[in-house]
Amino acid sequence: MKSFKHRFVPSDPDLIYLDGNSLGRLPVAAAALAQSLVEQQWGIRLIRGWNDGWIELPRRIGDKIASLVGAHSGEVLVADSTSVNLYKLAVAALESRPDRREIVTDAENFPSDLYIFQGLQRRFPDLQIRLEADPIAAISEKTALVSLSHVHFKSGYRHPMAAINRAARDAGAYTLWDLSHSVGAVPTDLSTADMAVGCTYKYLNGGPGAPAFLYVRQDLQSQLLNPIQGWFGQKSAFDFGLDYEPHSGIDRFSVGTPPVVSLALIEPGVDLLLEAGMEWIDARRTVLTEILLQANLEEFGFQPVTPYDANERGSHVTFAHHEAWRINLALIQAGVIPDFRAPNFLRLGVTPLYIDESDIETALHGLRQIMQSRAYENFPAARPPVT
Ligand SMILES: Cc1ncc(COP(=O)(O)O)c(C=O)c1O
Repeated sequence: MKSFKHRFVPSDPDLIYLDGNSLGRLPVAAAALAQSLVEQQWGIRLIRGWNDGWIELPRRIGDKIASLVGAHSGEVLVADSTSVNLYKLAVAALESRPDRREIVTDAENFPSDLYIFQGLQRRFPDLQIRLEADPIAAISEKTALVSLSHVHFKSGYRHPMAAINRAARDAGAYTLWDLSHSVGAVPTDLSTADMAVGCTYKYLNGGPGAPAFLYVRQDLQSQLLNPIQGWFGQKSAFDFGLDYEPHSGIDRFSVGTPPVVSLALIEPGVDLLLEAGMEWIDARRTVLTEILLQANLEEFGFQPVTPYDANERGSHVTFAHHEAWRINLALIQAGVIPDFRAPNFLRLGVTPLYIDESDIETALHGLRQIMQSRAYENFPAARPPVT
């Protein structure tokens, strides 16, 4: 069987890392690149680095991400954060549909996405934000935009993307997907989607705070305008013209100078996923998440909130438990890193590049011991700022 474990920098060899859905591990190739990037490219090439290839990175890495998400070359750009990209594309969509003032989303969406939409109500005072459990039923001729997280960050539920895209298109509404919990985790086909955003520091293993990506379908690009008109979105930035003229392609959604160091370090992680293939990743995450869901943890008071149907979930499994925070702390002390999401969720992220059956079995063994011995009761209930 394929294995990619050795392609990641070993931390503690006994550590079982089930938090790749929050921050992916460090690829060996990224560690090597970091050194040459800083010492050679920055240290020696200095400003010449831009024409050595830095300027192409947002598109080059974007094209690689495109092949992970069923998009085409020239449709994906790496830039800014997921939240900022969501803002840019949501405004672009609303400006291009002045006759419609409704966003359909759901209450399970990532809060940052909802905050962005709420902020847009200052810019578009008649904007309605509908939190709908059944988005398809809610789409109407009033809907400008349907914007959802493809995989919910808490439950791991995965929306039926193609069906939602069809319903939106039939009603003349745009779609804008947040792929943060699905890119590199489950196969995605954006061919029927209009726009998407996503982060690179989870399943793409791009590094803490690495820039995010955005997708705009080719034929829509010329119809949408970036509300933040910076020089990197300008047609010929280095002509330094005084009037903004948007770039004709996906580059129009750039704003300012790309963060070259963190941007370049995304590529080795993306290359690993391309090498593994999304079919292999999907088959493996299906098997591994299944083991977690079949582990009979109900006897310890855990309630699974992740769907049992593999097509309806992503690559993490979440259990509700009233002691989830302290159990999370006890697991970390036992050498298993999961994560906790308020108010009472324990998330176990499955990343087939570096997690296999034996890791899952060891983690489950540790969890059962913690529950039987009630070892979690030795930990404080107070939570630090980042969980
Ligand atoms: C689904 C989802 N969307 C958006 C974000 C926020 O991304 P960023 O911090 O790049 O804006 C996250 C962060 O974890 C996320 O999980």
